[in-house]
Amino acid sequence: MSDLLAAFEATYGAAPAGVWAAPGRVNLIGEHTDYNDGYVLPAAIPYTARAAVRPRTDGVLRLYSEQGDGVVTELRVEELAPGSVAGWAQYPAAVVWALREAGHEVGGADVYLTSDVPGGAGLSSSAALECVVAIAYRDLHGLDLDATALALLAQRAENAFVGVPCGVMDQMASTACTEGAALFLDTRTMTGRQVPLDLAGQGLRLLVIDTRVKHDLGDGAYAELRAGCERAAGLLGLAALRDLTPEELPGALDRLPAELRPLVQHVVTENRRVERAVAHLTAGELAELGPILTAGHASLRDDYRVSCPETDLAVAAAVAAGALGARMTGGGFGGSVLALVPSEELDQIAAAVTTAFAEAGYGSPRTFAATPAAGAHRVS
Ligand code: GLA
Repeated sequence: MSDLLAAFEATYGAAPAGVWAAPGRVNLIGEHTDYNDGYVLPAAIPYTARAAVRPRTDGVLRLYSEQGDGVVTELRVEELAPGSVAGWAQYPAAVVWALREAGHEVGGADVYLTSDVPGGAGLSSSAALECVVAIAYRDLHGLDLDATALALLAQRAENAFVGVPCGVMDQMASTACTEGAALFLDTRTMTGRQVPLDLAGQGLRLLVIDTRVKHDLGDGAYAELRAGCERAAGLLGLAALRDLTPEELPGALDRLPAELRPLVQHVVTENRRVERAVAHLTAGELAELGPILTAGHASLRDDYRVSCPETDLAVAAAVAAGALGARMTGGGFGGSVLALVPSEELDQIAAAVTTAFAEAGYGSPRTFAATPAAGAHRVS
């Protein structure tokens, strides 16, 4: 961390007031449910966005990112408006804008950012960037914002300032997860609980396979899928698809146009998968998560249609090599796959996936074991 302090001082000519960290996440199960008022079950990963910050009193916001464009971006806080900032800087700027929009009297700052959350990998590197700035501002200005309020604020920043109509899962994972647990969250009530995830105790590990592909299709498709779900809920006279039970599903499908049926099928069955996963984890039956992951992937591939050849291959190769189950995690159209594997087989399963990628002519995936990590916090 001394590197970050030194880098801040070299960039801005003084010491920062503090350093904060906010993690990326994997989602165990509950994909494309958060904008349907449904359930999610993410866990933070031990990769974080970190920010060294020093408040300023002249209304200037200076932003530098080690993963950015090599220059300090200088903005005036009162001129921040949706569409006014481009590239990586829009995420931290969006948070400062959202704080002011929410009535918090916050000003500018010097911000030095770095992150080891893989970007474009479906592991919420953007949410980590938003949340680390949100928590730094919260602490520096003594704002009364808990983990949920911070996440909602970061989500609003992304929706209204960046223009991405995401749900709240990624931001909640980044602010509210705790070490050694997954967060079972009801995105309607914004209530949840930490579900202990003692993988090592049961001889298991979570293997993350970053396919390193991101299909452009994803950008517009996410908004279209969300709109499709909202249209289906409207046609069914429901506030959200969360309100449809598995028992009501067949009758509801009959009342919908063909193109909306698979979306509804996925969301309803996915919410049940989250509930089943939580029941098994609570009972200490961690291995039972495996088949739920694989069933979730089939639903995303065949019904929701957000998987892609690379994620499908990673799932199939991991399962064939001995994983108890596997699925794509995150929004889809590339990104990462999560596999539940016996600890002693982790290396061999990762190698088998890498071999399958080479045989298919795909580039090498990046693989790592994910231990459920802590949510956003002050480092120094
Ligand atoms: C992205 C969004 C989340 C969620 C997932 C899909 O990560 O940011 O809000 O909708 O996709 O589950």
